[in-house]
Amino acid sequence: MKNILKNKKIALCVCGSISAYKSVDLASKWVQQGADVKVLMTKSAQKFVGKATFEGITHNKVVDDLWNNESDLNIDHLDIAKNSDLLIVSPITANMISKIAHGVSDDIISTTLLATEKPIIIAPAMDGNMYDHFAVKKNIELLKKNGVIVLEPESGYLASGLTGKGRLRNQEEITAEVERVLSIADDLKGKNILISAGGTREPIDSVRFIGNRSSGKMGHSLAEICSQRGANVTLVTTSNLFVPNGIKKISVSTAEEMKVEIINLIDSMDCIIMAAAVADFKPEIFNEGKVKKDGIEKMELNLVKNDDILNLIKDSKCIKIGFAAETSNHDEFGVNKLNSKDLDMIVINDVSNSQIGFESDYNQVKIITKKGDIFKSDIENKKIIASNIIDKLKTIIN
Ligand SMILES: Cc1cc2nc3c(=O)[nH]c(=O)nc-3n(C[C@H](O)[C@H](O)[C@H](O)COP(=O)(O)O)c2cc1C
Repeated sequence: MKNILKNKKIALCVCGSISAYKSVDLASKWVQQGADVKVLMTKSAQKFVGKATFEGITHNKVVDDLWNNESDLNIDHLDIAKNSDLLIVSPITANMISKIAHGVSDDIISTTLLATEKPIIIAPAMDGNMYDHFAVKKNIELLKKNGVIVLEPESGYLASGLTGKGRLRNQEEITAEVERVLSIADDLKGKNILISAGGTREPIDSVRFIGNRSSGKMGHSLAEICSQRGANVTLVTTSNLFVPNGIKKISVSTAEEMKVEIINLIDSMDCIIMAAAVADFKPEIFNEGKVKKDGIEKMELNLVKNDDILNLIKDSKCIKIGFAAETSNHDEFGVNKLNSKDLDMIVINDVSNSQIGFESDYNQVKIITKKGDIFKSDIENKKIIASNIIDKLKTIIN
């Protein structure tokens, strides 16, 4: 397996949390894989772990003071901000989250983070009540909106003796995220990618609709990853999930609205990924206002077929990726869809498993290309699944 960390410059920023000791192990693992790890520490962090430990492991001086510069530039925070491939704050305290959300720069870590254009990952760790505090929640949302990657803490046993959400994410997941971010190249630069997401809602009357359980998480994750990899992304979505800056979002509700937007855009696209769960049928009649139940014992609803969007764009020159959300005979239905809709790739997932698929943050997929290449993922976070799908797309897009 390719060693992504080799020769990468990682700034590991450590704050004053009880879990600071876990960063020692992270630094050690990354150094063993060939990374050049520079540790930055707050004064509080040094109450928990000594500088000597990090210096012995990384063979680099720990930077803990804005005013004690040793870099070539003689301004350490600018040197680290410019020359690191990635900056990670693990653990990050409630205090540091607040500082970077509001642009405070009164110590080496907050000042370096303010000065960098490189990717920033933060891994919060704190008591459950602290993590639940409205100020912390608001600050984290603000950071996410501005492109900071947040590795949400786990639920579990906390230093207070209580159980709750606030425990630092496990080392493997932190390292996996660092590797994922470091492996993101601008490999989709200039590509126009159209992604559909979420479940459509087919109205019965002004207040009721027929819907499905798709949350839009998979499509939104795909949009985020394509955008991070340099693509111009247009996301046609029914979901209100957060969309990072740089992605063009078009909100729709019904299958018809989604169809109209896609048909309008398809000729300017290099690739379309149909991750949306588009209703096959809609009520034949839309009732203006709310249908009253008084005097009605039985109500019949006639359904008519929606247009099949993938069929309508069959002749388009762009690369077409479909999703097959199945509950049985997954491969058979998936391959049929790949062939009948002339797709370049199909992503098959089992939506009968409640641990994965609809609404879950996790998924497990089988990807089959037109050429017959098959890839089966592990059960992974949807962002990682999205990366897997885009890696496969890279093998067929010029
Ligand atoms: C024993 C102890 C453990 C602490 N653990 C945490 C923690 O896990 N997370 C956190 O946000 N703050 C924690 N704090 C509070 C921070 O250390 C404190 O807010 C400090 O000002 C943070 O400084 P820094 O952000 O500059 O590192 C802890 C404090 C003590 C005394």
